[in-house]
Amino acid sequence: MINSINKNIFQIKETPIMEVANYGRNFTKETGKEVYPAWFGEGNISTDKLIYNKTINALKAGETFYTYQNGIPEVREEISKYMNQMFDVKTSPFQHSIVNGGMLGIKICCEIVLEKGDEVVIVGPVWPNIRSSVVLREAVINEVSLDFDKTWTLDLNKLLNAITNKTKLVFINSPNNPTGWMLNSSEQQIILDHVREKNCWLLADEVYHRIVYQGNASSSFLSLSEPEDKLLVINSSSKSFNMTGWRVGWITHPEYLGEHIAKLIQISTTGVPEFIQKGFIEALKNHEFLVKEVMKNLHVSRDFVYNKMKHWTKLKINKPESAFYLFFKANDARDSISFCKNLIKKTQVGLAPGVAFGKTGDNFLRLCFAADVKFLENILNRLEEEFN
Ligand SMILES: Cc1ncc(COP(=O)(O)O)c(C=O)c1O
Repeated sequence: MINSINKNIFQIKETPIMEVANYGRNFTKETGKEVYPAWFGEGNISTDKLIYNKTINALKAGETFYTYQNGIPEVREEISKYMNQMFDVKTSPFQHSIVNGGMLGIKICCEIVLEKGDEVVIVGPVWPNIRSSVVLREAVINEVSLDFDKTWTLDLNKLLNAITNKTKLVFINSPNNPTGWMLNSSEQQIILDHVREKNCWLLADEVYHRIVYQGNASSSFLSLSEPEDKLLVINSSSKSFNMTGWRVGWITHPEYLGEHIAKLIQISTTGVPEFIQKGFIEALKNHEFLVKEVMKNLHVSRDFVYNKMKHWTKLKINKPESAFYLFFKANDARDSISFCKNLIKKTQVGLAPGVAFGKTGDNFLRLCFAADVKFLENILNRLEEEFN
C-alpha cells in the first residue's frame, strides 16, 4: 500500500542530523544520561520581550483571523525598509512576501521555478533540506563543492563552468551553513553576470546575512541586481532575532511573482498569523539593538570554542567568518554518522555528521556554538579527550 504514495517522498531521506539526534534521544531514554546537544542550528536564548509583547498585545486585541497571503501591508512595508537600508537598494513592499520560515520560502521558490528534469546547480556543503526541496520537484542536482584547506574557498571557474544553458536554477547559500564561508561582492557580481548570460534563476539563501563577525551584514546579490533579474533571495527571522520557533521568513522576488507566490502560500499555510507578523515588525524596527545583542554573545562563543579547539591535534579547523558553526575535519570520522553515534556513547555530546551536508562533508563534523560559555565549556571538556 505504501508503494502507492508519491514516489518522490521516498527520495527524500531523513537527514543524518535527525538520525543522530534520534539516536541521542533514545540513548537518554535507555541510560537516563543527558546528551548535550550541539547538533541543530539554533541558540539557547529565547526571543526578546520587545518582540513577544507586541504579539501578546495583538492576540489580546483579537487579531486571530485569516490574513493577506503575502503578508499584511505593514509588514511588507517594514521588510522593504529594512532591506533597502541594509543593502542600499530601492525595493518596493510588493517585492517581499512573508512566509512561515525561510525553509518554506525555499520550497515555494523551487515550486515556482522547477519542473521535472530541470538542472539545478548547488554549491555545497549545504544544509540538507535544500536538496530535498529540489528532489521533490524531480529536478536534477549538480553539486559544486567548496574546497577546504586552511579555510573554505570556492573555485569560481568550477562554478561558472557548471552553470550552462541547461541550468534552470543556481542555489547558493552565503553566508554558508555549515562552513561559515561567504561570497564577496565581486564574486557575486561575476556569478550574477554569468547567470544573466545563461538566463537561469538564482536562488540566494541569505538567512545568515546578519551573523557576520566583521561589519553589519554580509554582501547580498540584491545590492547588485536590476529589477528584471531572475533573482530570488531567502531570508529569515530565525537566526538574527532568536526566533527559530516563530517560523517567520521572507522571499524577495520580482514584483510580478507576488501573485503566484500568494497562490502557493494559500495552499500551504494560507499565510503567517497576523499576531506573529506584529511581533516580527517589532524585530525589524529594533534590528540594530537586537542583532547587536545576538552578535555580542556569538563573538564570545565563537572565540571561546575556536581558541580552544584550534590546538587539538586530531582535527583541522577554520575560524568561521559567519554563521554559528564550526565545521571541522576530524581524522577519525571517515563515517561521520557512526562517529557521531559513538561520540554520544563516549562523551554525551551531540554533533551533526558532516555527510548530512553533501558529498564533501563526510570526515567532517558540525558543532553549533550558539550557546553560553558555561555550556560550551562543558561540551569542550567532554570532547577534548576524543580530539586531542
Ligand atoms: C542555510 C539555511 N537556510 C534556511 C534555513 C531555514 O531557516 P528557517 O526555516 O528557520 O527560517 C536554515 C535553518 O537552519 C539554514 O541553515
